[in-house]
Amino acid sequence: MGDDLAVAPAGVSREVSVGGYRVRIAPGALDTVAEVARESAPAHRYAVISDETVAPLYGPRIAAGFAGRAALLTVPAGEAHKSRETWAMLTDALIDGGFGRDSTIIALGGGMIGDLAGFVAATYMRGVAVIQVPTTLLAMVDASIGGKTAVDTPRGKNLVGAFHPPAAVVIDPGALATLPPDQMRHGSAEILKHGVIADEDYFEEAARSLPAFIDGAERSADGLSPLIARSVEIKGAVVDADERESGVRKTLNFGHTVGHALEAAAGYRMAHGAAVAAGMWAEARIAERLGIADDGTADRIERALRAVGLPWRRPEWLDPFTILEATRTDKKGRRGVAEYSLPLRIGAMCPMHGWGMTVEDSLVLEVLA
Ligand SMILES: NC(=O)c1ccc[n+]([C@@H]2O[C@H](COP(=O)([O-])OP(=O)(O)OC[C@H]3O[C@@H](n4cnc5c(N)ncnc54)[C@H](O)[C@@H]3O)[C@@H](O)[C@H]2O)c1
Ligand SMILES: [Zn+2]
Repeated sequence: MGDDLAVAPAGVSREVSVGGYRVRIAPGALDTVAEVARESAPAHRYAVISDETVAPLYGPRIAAGFAGRAALLTVPAGEAHKSRETWAMLTDALIDGGFGRDSTIIALGGGMIGDLAGFVAATYMRGVAVIQVPTTLLAMVDASIGGKTAVDTPRGKNLVGAFHPPAAVVIDPGALATLPPDQMRHGSAEILKHGVIADEDYFEEAARSLPAFIDGAERSADGLSPLIARSVEIKGAVVDADERESGVRKTLNFGHTVGHALEAAAGYRMAHGAAVAAGMWAEARIAERLGIADDGTADRIERALRAVGLPWRRPEWLDPFTILEATRTDKKGRRGVAEYSLPLRIGAMCPMHGWGMTVEDSLVLEVLA
């Protein structure tokens, strides 16, 4: 697979099929959203939902393709607005705007918009089609794939939501030209995760090539397309397989048991991508200590994370006990036993116990110490 990546011709349009829908990855694909929408989710009217940062950058370009049949609805940027209040505001705007069941939603933005606009689509008039148009690296390789939509509540993230697969996903790596470097890092964490769980060559290729894309110096639209396409394939294959044989989706959670605990323990002042980075290192080390993972797995992850400027250790100001406690409180507020999905090596996960297992507290504390 690594060879394929290396020789993939530049500038081509890539298509990946996930769960029955098409994912188009191509520089300039933003100009084809209307065409894809007419093919995959033909509608009387289209509502483009975006945030105040992304809408002025790419909204007019998308709307232009719809020749007057699209309205642009804009919400404030930031996770705080992935809320029931914003959902209510958007659905009211659609009702007042006379949007009927024969409407299609276009979700234009990062994962926050993808989840929010996806949930609007899942619920509006008992469900209308959505086209995902992700504009952050994280949304391109992760959030836009798999059909999960949700809003947050004051009690926790993603507590109200629905499965609502998109009719299609349109990814234009050119949209990353305006993305801040830290956001590039956060998406890189999930790309490296995909390498660890499924494809060693891809992990190496990503570790080698991602650093040049972070600060924009080498951020060419074409260079990132093969990496994005492979990540979409990996996440898509896992999600598709999970519909038949329950459990394998847990492997996507690699790095996230400790990662979510870091985020929660830090009062969400630690970015998700950074938390998952440190979570991957810790969970790989746990797997080594248990004799599950090859020696050196955590070291290879550490080198890749350092190269893109992601942390690999917990922040010093967070003590191991607080993090351990946070692993036991899942997002539904149940207190229980944390489950870990652990690697065998770079490129393969441990299938034992249905892809997830419990770990002794003492080992978690030792690794976080
Ligand atoms: N549904 C899923 O399976 C899934 C998976 C992972 C994450 N998520 C969700 O995704 C969200 C995080 O997504 P995110 O990291 O993309 O954050 P985000 O959507 O909040 O975007 C981050 C910031 O970047 C800005 N931005 C977006 N695209 C830009 C561009 N091209 N140029 C300049 N600025 C741009 C946004 O306005 C925002 O300020 C969380 O809510 C998380 O729960 C969902
Ligand atoms: Zn994640």
